[in-house]
Amino acid sequence: MDSTASTTTLRLREFLFSDEDFEALRRLVKEHTGINLSDQKRELVYGRLARRLRALNLKSFREYRELVASDGGCELANLCNAITTNLTAFFREPHHFDYLRQHVLEPFIASPPANRRLRIWSAGCSTGEEPYSIAMTVLETIPDIARWDVRILATDLDSDVLERARRGLYAADRLRNVSAARVEKFFRPVQTAGGLEYEVRPALSRLITFKQLNLMHPFPMKGPLQVIFCRNTIIYFDKETQRDLFVRIARLQRPGDLLFLGHSETLFRVSEAYTLIGRTVYERC
Ligand SMILES: C[S@@+](CC[C@H](N)C(=O)[O-])C[C@H]1O[C@@H](n2cnc3c(N)ncnc32)[C@H](O)[C@@H]1O
Repeated sequence: MDSTASTTTLRLREFLFSDEDFEALRRLVKEHTGINLSDQKRELVYGRLARRLRALNLKSFREYRELVASDGGCELANLCNAITTNLTAFFREPHHFDYLRQHVLEPFIASPPANRRLRIWSAGCSTGEEPYSIAMTVLETIPDIARWDVRILATDLDSDVLERARRGLYAADRLRNVSAARVEKFFRPVQTAGGLEYEVRPALSRLITFKQLNLMHPFPMKGPLQVIFCRNTIIYFDKETQRDLFVRIARLQRPGDLLFLGHSETLFRVSEAYTLIGRTVYERC
């Protein structure tokens, strides 16, 4: 590199970010979250963590790494929150919600009354749009919900998004995929400092338990879970991490139970415990 180019790079960078810094941070993120940061993610890591350095009034990534290593895990949680990608939407990949209605919920209410228990897990629920979409589908299909034992567990590693999911308050533009009839039925308009927002009604939130859960750690729940949504989350993990995860996920399900993955995810060469039966819909064998 000529000296002009190198000076320009240094001038553009607010914080010194060496190869060693990137390697150490990506190792930490992989160990803690399973997220595999490729070389192409270097700028993303810089951009997202530069905000943390500014907030903490630190001068370099070396100082930041020292803090992460020494403060008992507090900044490690912030680091992981900053790195996770939380993109989501209400009724994202809507065919999954149609499938849930037709192949799980309708047969469930038509089944013998002895079987009133249904457990659904939204693994990697981000800011809550996915579990609330599941809850809307449940309430629309099962109007006499009080007579049934239906629960949705919604988990994420990222404590910031989980807090927003629990709060259940959304700006109007987040509801663009939700029909006017659903907005009317399931949300309450609230005037906030940010303008008009929409809060989920208790009928929806009552069905959901939000919990922080790292998919890399042993699961506290025993199952069985008849339906698991694990969408757009494993895409950030390498194959080995995915294999280990689905050995443990498969233990929570019984033959015939369902698993939904994201549109670009697959269990091909990852798990033989499932058969593909629809568009990114898998059945436990
Ligand atoms: C892109 S969002 C997907 C949200 C939703 N499932 C959807 O499809 O719209 C991925 C979520 O996975 C979470 N995540 C990433 N690694 C995780 C881990 N090891 N354990 C639990 N959640 C994790 C992130 O925090 C993020 O909220």
